[in-house]
Amino acid sequence: MTYQPEASRYDHGAFRRCGRSGLVLPPVSLGLWQNFGGVDAFETGRAIVRRAFDRGVTHFDLANNYGPPPGSAEEAFGRMVAADLRPFRDELVISSKAGFGMWPGPYGNGGSRKHLLSSLDASLRRMGLDYVDVFYHHRPDPATPLAESMGALHHAVRSGRALYAGLSNYPADLAAQAIAALAALGTPCLVHQGRYSLLDRAAEAGLLDALGTAGVGFAAYSPLAQELLTDKYLQSDVPPGARMARGGTLPAERLTDAVRAKLSRLASIAQSRGRSLAQLALAWVLHDPRVTTAVVGARTVPQLDELLQVMAADPISPEDSKRIEDALADGGDR
Ligand SMILES: NC(=O)c1ccc[n+]([C@@H]2O[C@H](COP(=O)([O-])OP(=O)(O)OC[C@H]3O[C@@H](n4cnc5c(N)ncnc54)[C@H](OP(=O)(O)O)[C@@H]3O)[C@@H](O)[C@H]2O)c1
Repeated sequence: MTYQPEASRYDHGAFRRCGRSGLVLPPVSLGLWQNFGGVDAFETGRAIVRRAFDRGVTHFDLANNYGPPPGSAEEAFGRMVAADLRPFRDELVISSKAGFGMWPGPYGNGGSRKHLLSSLDASLRRMGLDYVDVFYHHRPDPATPLAESMGALHHAVRSGRALYAGLSNYPADLAAQAIAALAALGTPCLVHQGRYSLLDRAAEAGLLDALGTAGVGFAAYSPLAQELLTDKYLQSDVPPGARMARGGTLPAERLTDAVRAKLSRLASIAQSRGRSLAQLALAWVLHDPRVTTAVVGARTVPQLDELLQVMAADPISPEDSKRIEDALADGGDR
């Protein structure tokens, strides 16, 4: 049956301006890094994407290498665009990235003009799109002159393959240089995508300030610390099927006794406010106005539903913010 999105999809939460640009983004965006690859069930991913859009999530975040296998998340998303989303293309902000290892040889990785532009063309083919809304350099490449990488992002925009340019995983100083280089070319940097959660606050050490000053938005990825900040890890054992149990990007060493203690203290605060730990963690990321959007992952529709409740919930109060800081500081491992 032809997909018809919910008519009420824009009633769920205020959009947030991305830096000083004209673009607004939903508070919660959906990332397709994991759970949408060729090894995953297509119909489950499709149901998650449809539910997201039904609830006003207009921003979908991809990269050339998302899968596994690399490229397969973009292929799956392309099928979803063809089946469901094509009529709503003008309501969507679709991002992709290049800069991690994607194909063999010297041009399948890095920050060269060769890699970035050929990767973007391949991403467009996989997704069946004429353009992406945001094209990111996925991580800095010290072997390539910054001017070349930024020139490639500028060209991506000027050639119509992307509407906006973005950076990801750049440290504060380099981000400031890259933002200035893009501005000098006449392609303002829209957004920086960086890891940020209650368990990873490195962005507070200069990056968020630099972006705020430059008027560049911040997309916070892994706001649940890849699922650590969910109720799953409150039990003594790692539940079967969890990301940590599957091996890969969330190694068991991350779950130290100190982290467990923090999770338990944070969960008590969440419970006292009628929220789940995941909802508290997501609301906390969004309480900093410099954060434009939190890019979450989800493996099931109920997981996503739980997260999306944050869009309409009360923001974190100053009192709760203080309790959270105390919960993180206790034990001295912040
Ligand atoms: N730019 C970059 O370098 C970069 C790097 C990483 C991520 N990202 C972006 O950020 C997106 C999100 O990253 P992430 O997946 O690490 O984000 P996350 O939101 O921190 O973690 C998502 C995972 O948490 C679990 N989860 C979500 N909701 C839950 C709920 N209600 N209850 C219990 N568990 C729940 C699920 O794990 P299970 O699947 O195990 O159930 C889900 O896959 C990516 O898809 C990507 O778009 C970008």
